[in-house]
Amino acid sequence: MNSNYILTLSKSLTIDAYKQINFLIAGARGSGKTYGALILIAEMASFPRTDPNKLLGTSQLPTQIYIVDFKDSDMARLGELLPPGRVATNKAEAIKVVSDYDNKMHSRLDFIKSQAFGETAGTLGMPMYYLIIDEWSATNAAFNQGMTKEDKNMRYKWNALITDISMMNRVPGLGIGLISQQISVINSGLNSSIQEEAGLKFHFGDANMSSYRLTFGNDIQIPEIHLETGEAYAWIEGITSSGYVIPFGMPEIEPNSLWKYLKEALSNQDDDKYLYMTTN
Ligand SMILES: Nc1ncnc2c1ncn2[C@@H]1O[C@H](COP(=O)(O)OP(=O)(O)OP(=O)(O)O)[C@@H](O)[C@H]1O
Ligand SMILES: [Mg+2]
Repeated sequence: MNSNYILTLSKSLTIDAYKQINFLIAGARGSGKTYGALILIAEMASFPRTDPNKLLGTSQLPTQIYIVDFKDSDMARLGELLPPGRVATNKAEAIKVVSDYDNKMHSRLDFIKSQAFGETAGTLGMPMYYLIIDEWSATNAAFNQGMTKEDKNMRYKWNALITDISMMNRVPGLGIGLISQQISVINSGLNSSIQEEAGLKFHFGDANMSSYRLTFGNDIQIPEIHLETGEAYAWIEGITSSGYVIPFGMPEIEPNSLWKYLKEALSNQDDDKYLYMTTN
């Protein structure tokens, strides 16, 4: 694959993050969802990867990372490595971070519209941006609770922002990754537009067939393999449309090493520098 945005899921499975821009990660407690997403963040933040034997790339197109994590878990720890204003652990912060993300998306869209007809962030060689929302269902549930005027205001804003981003983010290259134990439309509070716009779905870890079915639907074949923590099935738009989901395993990385990778990978995060940067 000839692209600056190639994500290596395993030795035998790579995808183009710019093409499959919105992803959903499902799986039971402790199945490796957050950890897997952190590995993907390390890869993306150091795009493009040129050596298949090294996790990190050359960082010429460092993906800019934004996080919502109400559980304040390993994901939110990235606040120690990111510029201020990138990580939210409550509703008020989430509105701030996601509004900023949405504004950046529109600013970049305006910039791309000023370029030649048909250009995109991908053809212009711009760095991607990613908004990762860990524990999506719990986050969404938190926004759906509360009856004060302020609660209602935040609920309206949250839904409007997520819908806006998931529908317009392809051309400007600002992705969304949602992580949740459950990602079916019915049980997770997942807006159907997000479910439809997701070109990539993962289900981590061991589960019964009905649970995998909720993630992938009824038209896809699911092999009967026992998955361990850090292993997953992938559905990739255009590749798995009919046929089997693809099993893969994330690389096994010790927490200390992962933190070192993240520290190095996230050394190129800057709020202004990359929004209008083109390399083609
Ligand atoms: N690729 C991996 N390499 C090494 N260890 C891993 C890997 N994936 C998961 N683990 C181990 O499994 C633990 C649980 O993984 P993780 O926190 O990602 O689960 P989760 O699916 O996010 O669970 P929860 O629903 O509770 O948030 C990690 O803390 C880590 O110790
Ligand atoms: Mg988790």
